[in-house]
Amino acid sequence: MKKAFFLSTYLLLALITHAENGYQLWLRYNTINDKQLLNQYLNSISGIQFDGKTPTLNAAKEELINGLQGLLGKKIIVQREFSNNSIVAGTPASSNIIASLQLKQQLQEAGKEGFIITTAKSNQKNIIAIASNTDAGVLYGVFHFLRLLQTNQNIQHVSLISFPKIQLRILNHWDNLNRTVERGYAGFSIWDWHKLPGYIDKRYIDYARSNASVGINGTVLTNVNANALVLTKTYLEKVKALADAFRPYGIKVYLTARFSSPIELGKLKTADPLDPEVQEWWKQKVNEIFSYIPDFGGFLVKANSEGQPGPQNYARTHADGANMLAEAVSPHGGIVMWRAFVYSNETPDDRAKQAYNEFKPLDGKFKKNVLVQVKNGPIDFQPREPFHPLFGAMPQTPLMMEYQLTQEYLGQSNHLVYEAPMFKECQDADTYVKGKGSTVAKVIDGTLEGHDLSGMAGVANIGNDINWTGHPFAQSNWYTLGRLAWDHTLSAEQIADEWIKQTFTNNSRFVNPVKSMMLASRDIMVSYMTPLGLHHIMGTGHHYGPAPWTNRSARADWNPIYYHKADSSGIGFDRTATGSNALAQYAPAVRKQYENVNTCPEEYLLWFHHVRWDHKMTSGRTLWDELCYKYNVGVDSVRWMQKKWNEQKTYVDNDRFEQVKMLLTIQEKEAVWWRNACLLYFQTYSKNPIPAQYEKPDQTLEYYHALLFPFAPGNG
Ligand code: GCU
Repeated sequence: MKKAFFLSTYLLLALITHAENGYQLWLRYNTINDKQLLNQYLNSISGIQFDGKTPTLNAAKEELINGLQGLLGKKIIVQREFSNNSIVAGTPASSNIIASLQLKQQLQEAGKEGFIITTAKSNQKNIIAIASNTDAGVLYGVFHFLRLLQTNQNIQHVSLISFPKIQLRILNHWDNLNRTVERGYAGFSIWDWHKLPGYIDKRYIDYARSNASVGINGTVLTNVNANALVLTKTYLEKVKALADAFRPYGIKVYLTARFSSPIELGKLKTADPLDPEVQEWWKQKVNEIFSYIPDFGGFLVKANSEGQPGPQNYARTHADGANMLAEAVSPHGGIVMWRAFVYSNETPDDRAKQAYNEFKPLDGKFKKNVLVQVKNGPIDFQPREPFHPLFGAMPQTPLMMEYQLTQEYLGQSNHLVYEAPMFKECQDADTYVKGKGSTVAKVIDGTLEGHDLSGMAGVANIGNDINWTGHPFAQSNWYTLGRLAWDHTLSAEQIADEWIKQTFTNNSRFVNPVKSMMLASRDIMVSYMTPLGLHHIMGTGHHYGPAPWTNRSARADWNPIYYHKADSSGIGFDRTATGSNALAQYAPAVRKQYENVNTCPEEYLLWFHHVRWDHKMTSGRTLWDELCYKYNVGVDSVRWMQKKWNEQKTYVDNDRFEQVKMLLTIQEKEAVWWRNACLLYFQTYSKNPIPAQYEKPDQTLEYYHALLFPFAPGNG
C-alpha cells in the first residue's frame, strides 16, 4: 500500500517535471495550454491542404502536421478539398488555391526565399495561406507559422510577409575528419564519417530541420584548418550522402579547401594559383565534386594564416588564390568564401591591423563570386571587440560576417552567455564610411554598396552531446545566427523571447526573468573576464580560464602580455597615433570616438589606450579601483543569475533545471577564478591594494599560475 502510494506520487512528480533532454531544441511542439488562445481560433483549425510532392514540400507538410498535432493536441487531417479554417500551403505552381489568391504583388516582394502568411477567403471559405514562390520559401513559412503558434501569438488575423535580408546564412563547422572539433565543447562531431555514406543518422535530418526552422541555408562541413582528404572520392561520396539528406531542407553543402591539395592529392609540384596545371587540377576537382553534388555551394578557405598554406607561399596575393578557385566553381554557380583572418608572425605590426593592411589593397581585385569573410572584430572572437576595420573599407567586395557561436573565449560550454547582444553591437556599429548610418549591418547585407551577394556565417557550437550544444542555453546562440541572418533588425530581446518560449515555456513568470538573465549575460561575462577593453588574456592554446601572465608562447602575438601591456605605469594597448595607430584604419568619425583617453567609451578604453593606474574614470574611481570594481560586479552578477535561475524551479523540467543550476555553479567558481587571478596578477604592476569592501582572493597568484589543463576540449 505504502509502496503503491510512493510509486504513484513518483509518477505524478515525473509527469509534472516532465524530463527533457534538450534534443528537440526549439522545436518541441508541446500542446498549447492557453485556453483563451485555443478557443479564439486554434481549436477551429480543421486540417491542412497541401498539394505538391517535391521532397521540400513533403518535408514542409510533415513538419506542419507534426507541429500542429503537437501544438493543438489533436489529429490533423490532410484534406483534398479545403474547408473553413484550413491551412493551405504551397507555391502558385504547387497549389491551385495559392495560385488563385491575389498574392502576386506580395509574392514579388517575398522574392526567392520569402513567404507570406495571411488569412484569405477562397470559395467562400476562410483559410490561412502560407505562400511562397519556392518550395524552400514554403518550408520557411511553415516553420514561421509554427513559431507564431509556439510563442502563443494570436493568428486569427495574421497577415505578414517575411524575406531574408542576407542571402548566405551559413554554419561553419570546424569539424575534423577524425570527429574532433576545433574549439568544440559539445562532444565530438555529429558527422560520423566512418559510417557514411551508408548510414544516415537521424541527427542529420533533425540538424537540417532545425537549421531550416531559422532560415539557415548552408553548412560548411569541415574545419578551416583543412584536410585535403575530404576532396577525395571516398569522402566526396560521404559528403554527397549528407548533401542529399540536407537538400529537402534547403541546405547547401560547402567544403573547406586546403590550398595545397594539388600537391597533396594531385602530386603536382606546386599549388601556385597562376600555374595552368594547378588551375586545371582545381577545375577537374570541382567538376568531380559537382558530379556528386550538383548544387554544391563552393569553398571556404583559410589561407596563409596560422600555418595554413596559401597563395603567398608562391608570392601571389589572396585575390590570386581566391580567383583561381572562383573560376573553377563559377560555371557551376558556386562561390568562394575567402577568410580575412590573417596575421603573420613575421609582421611586427599590431595584429589588429594586419588583416586590413593585407586585404584593403585587394579591393576590386576579386572575382564576382568571391566573398571575403571577416570576423566581427580585428583580433579573434573576444568577449568584446570593436568592429573589424575592414567593414566599410572594401566597397567593391562583398564582405561576409563571421561570428563564433562556439564559446572559445566565452567560457566555452560552462558559461551561460547569450551572444545576440554581442552580434547586435557589432552590426549596429556605424562605420561612417558613407556618412552617418553606414552600419556594419548595411555593409554585410550588401545594401551600402549595392552588392548582390551577401552572407553571414557562424562557427558552429554543435556536437554529439544529447542537447547538441553542451550548455542548454548555448542553443540560443545557434538559434540567433539563423534569425539574425534572416533579419538583422530583430532585437536581441525579441530573439531571446522567441527562443525561451519555444525552448521552455510561454509562462511570463519564467520568460521575463530568464530573458533578463540572457540579455545581461554577455556584459556579465565581459566584467569577470576582460573588462574595460582588455582582451586575449585567456590561457594560451586551450583558451580556458585566465592566464594574463603568459609570455612564453612561440609567437609574440599568442602571448597575453602582448595584449594587455601592463607595466608599472598602467595597462592597455595604445592603438592611437602615439601607439600602433590601428585607429587610423577607421573612418575619422569613428577615430574621434576613441582617440581621446578621456572621452573613449570605457568599454573600449584598454583596447585603444595604455592608461595610467591612477587615471580618473567617469565613476570617480581610479582605473585600478574600477578594474577591481568591474571584476567584482562580474562575480556578483553571476550570483544574481544563480538566484534568478533557482527561482525558476517550478516552471522548468527537472533535468534542465538541474543541468543549468550545476553549470551556473561552475560559472560562479570560474568567475571567481577569473577575478582573483587577474586582480592578483595586475596588482603586481599597479602595486595598489584591492579595496577593502571586496572579497579577498582565497588563493595565491602562484596557485593560479600552476593550474594546468592538459586535456581541455576543443584544443587540437
Ligand atoms: C582562432 C582559433 C583557432 C582557429 C582560428 C581561425 O585562432 O583559436 O582554433 O583555427 O581562430 O579562425 O582560423
